[in-house]
Amino acid sequence: MTSAVRTFGLSLPDYPWEAMAPYAATAARHPAGAVNLSIGTPVDPTPALIQDALRVAADAPGYPTVHGTPALREAVAGWFARRRGVPGLDPQNVMPTVGSKELVAWLPFLLGLKPGDVVVRPTVAYPTYDIGATFAGAEQIAADDLDELDAGTRARVRLVWVNSPANPTGSVRDVASLRSIVRQAREIGAVVASDECYAELGWGEWDAQRGGTPVPSILDPQVAEGSHDGLLAVYSLSKQSNVAGYRAAFVAGDPVIMANLVNSRKHAGMIVPYPVQEAMRVALGDDAHVLVQKDLYRGRRERIVPALEGFGLTIHESRAGLYLWASAGEGTWDTVGRLADRGIVVGPGVFYGDAGHGFVRVALTASDERIDAAVSRLASAT
Ligand SMILES: Cc1ncc(COP(=O)(O)O)c(C=O)c1O
Repeated sequence: MTSAVRTFGLSLPDYPWEAMAPYAATAARHPAGAVNLSIGTPVDPTPALIQDALRVAADAPGYPTVHGTPALREAVAGWFARRRGVPGLDPQNVMPTVGSKELVAWLPFLLGLKPGDVVVRPTVAYPTYDIGATFAGAEQIAADDLDELDAGTRARVRLVWVNSPANPTGSVRDVASLRSIVRQAREIGAVVASDECYAELGWGEWDAQRGGTPVPSILDPQVAEGSHDGLLAVYSLSKQSNVAGYRAAFVAGDPVIMANLVNSRKHAGMIVPYPVQEAMRVALGDDAHVLVQKDLYRGRRERIVPALEGFGLTIHESRAGLYLWASAGEGTWDTVGRLADRGIVVGPGVFYGDAGHGFVRVALTASDERIDAAVSRLASAT
């Protein structure tokens, strides 16, 4: 008798980071331990005022609100006005999310996308955009401009992901570039979801604390041109406030879509815990800790860029955010291997799409001590 093999579950690709294990093991053999610059997880402490806010809100016997407390939604609207050049956002059109990764992964499904529909994501991209399309049974297409698509494909596009500043490339879209993709999407009735989680971490011409221009939001009046119709901005406090462990993020924009998302998430119980909502509210009201953290990353970036270049890497884009997008004129895994031999773990560019071949992603999320260790290892290797 044959026994039928029954399988349950979605057929998603294996989580790609498993492929890094041999390189991490090589790097760990360095006498002074590995310097892990492969994953962008914050390492500096959560600021005290945020920890305090979480503690003060610890008495939370009742269910929290999916839509977010009015005070939190006011804080988000205030933050948009103060930090992102988006005045007058109606707090009604704001909702907290359990970190932004879950929203990225579930948005196509929650928007009602189905097989035959297309999700467009950046050519080199954070992998979760594709996972979201898969959850909805939709097709994912890599493009940075809708003009790259043929007419038949364009007609099927329902959702366009924009990621500025981008992970992993650190590229930034200016107002004109954002406005152009918004106009293209509106022509075909597609939603533009803009993942802006690195917006506070601009460097060089995008470093507002050093005379640069603030990174624009999709909801900026110059981009949105009078209405938030069809637009969603997705933001996370994970990196700006060192609260990746809290799962603290939000989405805001189109009034009709936001009302629908709130309703769907009420049915599904996708709720940010009340103490985290309070921690978010307090964090969003305090710009000082964000700038202190940014200074730390700027310092790390300024030390490691010349060390990587001295090792023979070319840095591409990397105008904002927590990553350096680098190449050495060889295969991705050759660069990953050569750095692992020196006790340094970096992310392989191939994890971010075919266009990532030949690139590595170097995260700035390591302590000053570990960054300095990497700098001296890179110098002694040349
Ligand atoms: C582009 C991008 N979007 C979303 C996320 C998810 O952030 P979180 O779920 O911590 O809010 C990340 C995290 O690295 C990211 O790089």
